[in-house]
Amino acid sequence: MKAQDEDREIIKALAKVSKSLIYVSLLFVACLIMIIVSFLDNGKGADAEAANPVAATYKPAAVSAITASGGPTPLPTPPDAWKAPEESTIPAGKAGDMIRYGKELLVHTAKYFGPQGSVAHLTNGMNCQNCHLAGGTKLFGNDYAGFISSYPKMSSRSGKVESASERIAECFDRSLAGKVPDTSKKEIQSILAYMKWIGKDVKRGQKLFGNATEKLAFMDHAADPVKGKEVFIMKCQSCHGNNGEGMLAPDKKTYTNPPLWGKHSYNDGAGMYRLTNLAGFVKNNMPFGATYQSPQLTDEEAWNVAAFVNSRPRPHKDQHNDWKDLNKKPIDFPFGPYADAFGEKQHKYGPFKPIKDAQNELTNKKS
Ligand code: HEC
Ligand code: HEC
Repeated sequence: MKAQDEDREIIKALAKVSKSLIYVSLLFVACLIMIIVSFLDNGKGADAEAANPVAATYKPAAVSAITASGGPTPLPTPPDAWKAPEESTIPAGKAGDMIRYGKELLVHTAKYFGPQGSVAHLTNGMNCQNCHLAGGTKLFGNDYAGFISSYPKMSSRSGKVESASERIAECFDRSLAGKVPDTSKKEIQSILAYMKWIGKDVKRGQKLFGNATEKLAFMDHAADPVKGKEVFIMKCQSCHGNNGEGMLAPDKKTYTNPPLWGKHSYNDGAGMYRLTNLAGFVKNNMPFGATYQSPQLTDEEAWNVAAFVNSRPRPHKDQHNDWKDLNKKPIDFPFGPYADAFGEKQHKYGPFKPIKDAQNELTNKKS
């Protein structure tokens, strides 16, 4: 009798176990199917990109399956956020011609000033627009909204008050790793005319949503070039080349996808050589098509890939005259001497919070 009861219990238990086993395996199969389906989708996206890495078409990032979080949720764009004036409102006549020519020079800089430029051979073959996206109209893409209204301006880098044309010349000298152009000539005057037109509705000191690039939250550890290399291979290499050399257009004079390092890239005195600028730019604009509202990298991936890109060789600029006032030196300027006790490596890759805290302490002591 007792033995029979025990048997019954055992059979019941076995039935229970096998039922659960069936449920678990059903769940497992369902998961497997989901994974395979999403994998196939991803693959399709990647194939399409590989077949046409040329990024002339602006594809919304939402199409991608790798939309990432990894930072605070982006703020909605406020309704009164800056918007560039409509092209159709550029005036007719001479004044308008200058504005249009100025824009043309920013968009196709290499054609005029590159190694085979038609006006002069001053620059490395990149275009201003490579970093100042959409002619300097894209929020969080180094837009020019607040530029003209804030100049002339005291530059802590050069230690003097600079005019707008001097600031423009600096990007020739650093970001385009080139020579300073003659700012009295028609070309720079036209660029200025475009800048004035684009920023005509902005008042001096006005707070601007999306100005320059996003300041990403600091990580509590240093950015990691080794992990960044993985990100580069997965998400950047197809356009920017195996060695970051970019991709020339069929005319061999201009780039379809600009270089990220090497002798044709920005030099180590450029704004992009500072990690906070590069990480913020990459987070909201790369892979090409990403936006502030739909980024495709986590903050950490953006910091790491920026660290990788800026760990690679590039032209050097003598900067011993920059940031003479050490207290004004940006926390991520990777060349000493410093007012604080942190070394060049930490100033290059972080962690930045301790540096920021030390800097705040110094300024508090003084005031
Ligand atoms: C490699 C990327 C890159 C290229 C190419 C580039 N710039 Fe810049 N530019 C930057 C960055 C980054 C900043 C902000 C740097 C900073 O202030 O620390 C900047 C700042 C500026 C500013 C100041 C903006 C402001 O609001 O104060 C002007 C003006 C400017 N660039 C013009 C140009 C022009 C004109 C060209 C082409 C001749 C050009 N840039 C090419 C990266 C670039
Ligand atoms: C689909 C092609 C594509 C992919 C993928 C891509 N980029 Fe770009 N990238 C571009 C193009 C095109 C520009 C120039 C934009 C313009 O001129 O309007 C650019 C510009 C840049 C610039 C500024 C100009 C320069 O050369 O210094 C940086 C920095 C950059 N990309 C970094 C990255 C990083 C990092 C990744 C990977 C996370 C990445 N890009 C992925 C196409 C791409």
